[in-house]
Amino acid sequence: MSERTGEQLAKQEEMRRKSMNEIEQRISDGRIPWSTLTKRKGYEEVWTPSSIVPHTAHGAIAKEMASLSREIRIVLIGDTLTEEALPTYTHFLTSIEGMPDPHDSSLQQWIRAWSAEEERHGTLLDRILFMSEAVDMGAYERSKHMLIDDGMQIGTENDPYSSFYYTAFQERATQVSHANVAKIATDCNAPLIAKACRTIAGDEGMHAIMYSNFVKTALEIDPNGMIETIRDMMKNRVVMPAHLMREVRSDTHEVTQAGPAFSAFSDTAQQVGVYTTKDYDRISGKLLTEWDLAHTDDHDVWQVSERSDLSEDGREALAMCVRIQNIIHKKATNFVAPELPDHEFSWVLN
Ligand SMILES: [Fe+2]
Ligand SMILES: [Fe+2]
Repeated sequence: MSERTGEQLAKQEEMRRKSMNEIEQRISDGRIPWSTLTKRKGYEEVWTPSSIVPHTAHGAIAKEMASLSREIRIVLIGDTLTEEALPTYTHFLTSIEGMPDPHDSSLQQWIRAWSAEEERHGTLLDRILFMSEAVDMGAYERSKHMLIDDGMQIGTENDPYSSFYYTAFQERATQVSHANVAKIATDCNAPLIAKACRTIAGDEGMHAIMYSNFVKTALEIDPNGMIETIRDMMKNRVVMPAHLMREVRSDTHEVTQAGPAFSAFSDTAQQVGVYTTKDYDRISGKLLTEWDLAHTDDHDVWQVSERSDLSEDGREALAMCVRIQNIIHKKATNFVAPELPDHEFSWVLN
């Protein structure tokens, strides 16, 4: 964020408080409807990990995993690791400034409901890895332990606007990547793994709507402040939640630094088309459209959408968002997948 005077900071804080109060109010009176499968179906009907992969599926899962390429297995393991670092994400949400304290506040209830749904994702995927006999579970579990120990550094600094932009983006990103793994698994004749990833993608899509509505509300209450934050987040790029992943090398027992494992995982995901620069571009653009901030013209160029609620600074910030979106789009148009990384993951048995 740019340098601000004390008065501007106080105003900024006040507007964020107003937005948080309004989000709280709208969840409690239903203007922001609960976007979870559990609320729609009820505890009895909603899926559980064992309803997708029962304990009797052991042999089937091992067979299915063997039909997936080594690269897809790596992506699936990295996705599981990302899901299982859930304590970090719950902590991140409860630490947002202005988060109401009481146990019964709607926002706190949302965080708990969301965490309970997210927990199923990690459990389901972990069971698949465990049953597959293709994963060095000890190595994987050490990575999980370290990732939760290390947390994440995503530059949102407990700020509600940055945090909700981040979660709206990330829920879409996980929806896309799980859905893409599901498609590949279907093609490889791995129906249980496909169903697991498709089911998780469905949850992520619903979570995305909730966080998108939080941002939409902030845009109504404080359009200039919210747009300035979107600009800052777009400028810095959205960092993936598992970006600090590490490994204990199976050969040397050396604990690696953060960096190489994540970039090898991310390059692999790009190479196999599970999550690429093109997806990043589509998600970033979709959010701008969803919030009536921008649209594409007949030449596929992003343009600012007409708004009458912006100050001079807000208009400038929005223009910058659109410039950044056009750069992202250009990069995606010229996207060439990176070479497969030369990285021996400690997690993969064969
Ligand atoms: Fe998830
Ligand atoms: Fe999610």
